[in-house]
Amino acid sequence: MAKDKNPKETNQLWGGRFTETTDEFVQAFTASVSFDQRIAQQDINCSRAHARMLGHTGVLSMEDVEKILQGLDSISDEIESGDFPWSVELEDVHMNIEARLTDRIGDAGKRLHTGRSRNDQIATDIRLYMREAIDVIIAEAERLQHGMLSLAESNIDVIMPGFTHLQTAQPVTFGHHVMAWFEMISRDIERLADCRKRVNVMPLGAAALAGTTYPIDRQYSCELLGFDSVAANSLDAVSDRDFAIEFCAAASIVMTHLSRMSEELVLWSSAQFDFIDLPDRFCTGSSIMPQKKNPDVPELVRGKTGRVNGHLISLLTLMKSQPLAYNKDNQEDKEPLFDTVDTLMGCLRAFADMIPAIKPKKQNMRDAALKGFATATDLADYLVKKGMPFRDSHEVVGKAVAFGIEQGRDLSEMSLEELQKFSGDIEEGVFTVLTLEGSVAARNHIGGTAPDQVRAAIISARARLG
Ligand code: ARG
Repeated sequence: MAKDKNPKETNQLWGGRFTETTDEFVQAFTASVSFDQRIAQQDINCSRAHARMLGHTGVLSMEDVEKILQGLDSISDEIESGDFPWSVELEDVHMNIEARLTDRIGDAGKRLHTGRSRNDQIATDIRLYMREAIDVIIAEAERLQHGMLSLAESNIDVIMPGFTHLQTAQPVTFGHHVMAWFEMISRDIERLADCRKRVNVMPLGAAALAGTTYPIDRQYSCELLGFDSVAANSLDAVSDRDFAIEFCAAASIVMTHLSRMSEELVLWSSAQFDFIDLPDRFCTGSSIMPQKKNPDVPELVRGKTGRVNGHLISLLTLMKSQPLAYNKDNQEDKEPLFDTVDTLMGCLRAFADMIPAIKPKKQNMRDAALKGFATATDLADYLVKKGMPFRDSHEVVGKAVAFGIEQGRDLSEMSLEELQKFSGDIEEGVFTVLTLEGSVAARNHIGGTAPDQVRAAIISARARLG
């Protein structure tokens, strides 16, 4: 059979035991270079640290280490400038780079893979990549938060209806509503930062699965690569992808939040709500209906939540039932992960640009808050403060509301005499609690919608954010 073997087509890096060349389709089917070349710089950094560690422990001569480092530098430049000749025959990013290194520096290049495997190499590379991606994503989420703070700050006293069940519930300030979004993103950042702790653990040195017979110094590589610690078990180190699942879970929750905000922006920019104006640069028109201005950016962000949730499910399903240790299945982690990073970054960027540019239509918000009996709870609370049990005051106000519906008038538009028909406890002072301003100002405790509280929340948020 050896005569069938064409050394040009047999993979030079693992072809030794093979007697025939890989089927052409199988070669393309199993290759990952089309997508894992994205982590080439991380792969080079991983190799730099590995080579230096091998020099440090005496496994490689310092001369070889020097050659390897110089070779890797030139390959890094070549990749950066787009001149690197990626080849599907060489399967993945690791073998492309290693083969190129050997072409350039000869035998020293062939010694680089001493004491490691692509299994610990890829696990290390993705963690290096994820660490950087999380840092960039957190920075973008913080930019969005700054935008939210400026929008909230200019709308501390702007009153709008607050909703439950999407029915008018109680008046709130627009600033308070925006600060609710801010809190969602704060939790997202905490989750991502927490996930980063488990990302920043080094698999390198686990080799294929069992460790290596060479005298390696994992602590040394760990310091070179800036990991917080060394993975404690070699089998776990090469097979674990929890960190990728966790990242996608955190990303799905961010997207869930962005989709909720999107839904509100879409509703609010409709003619029916008409609460906000989204600047034209975040919208598009219709090819048939000349009057249309569609809120495409929030709609698309809402839609993209689906694909990120899908990637989370892909990774969970990918890892389900995988026996220890490394399995080729794991190669399928990259595309969902990369697309999650790209999608999340794009959505955060769009939101960070758009949120501070939103123009609230203050009068429309106020008019809407005056409809729907938003201060009914305030009247019930007023009666409780006069000594009536809450269940009774609820009933009394319910009757007043029914009268208002019949008359087409808000509670604040009724005369004192009319209100007194529902309860003799109602006195002149009632009108201060029935106004929108009185209603929001009365909710004056930590986390409440009173403008003073919203102002304090913004100040403390700004201090937290730095
Ligand atoms: N391309 C592979 C991956 O993404 C790299 C590791 C391959 N290891 C192996 N034993 N085939 O997971």
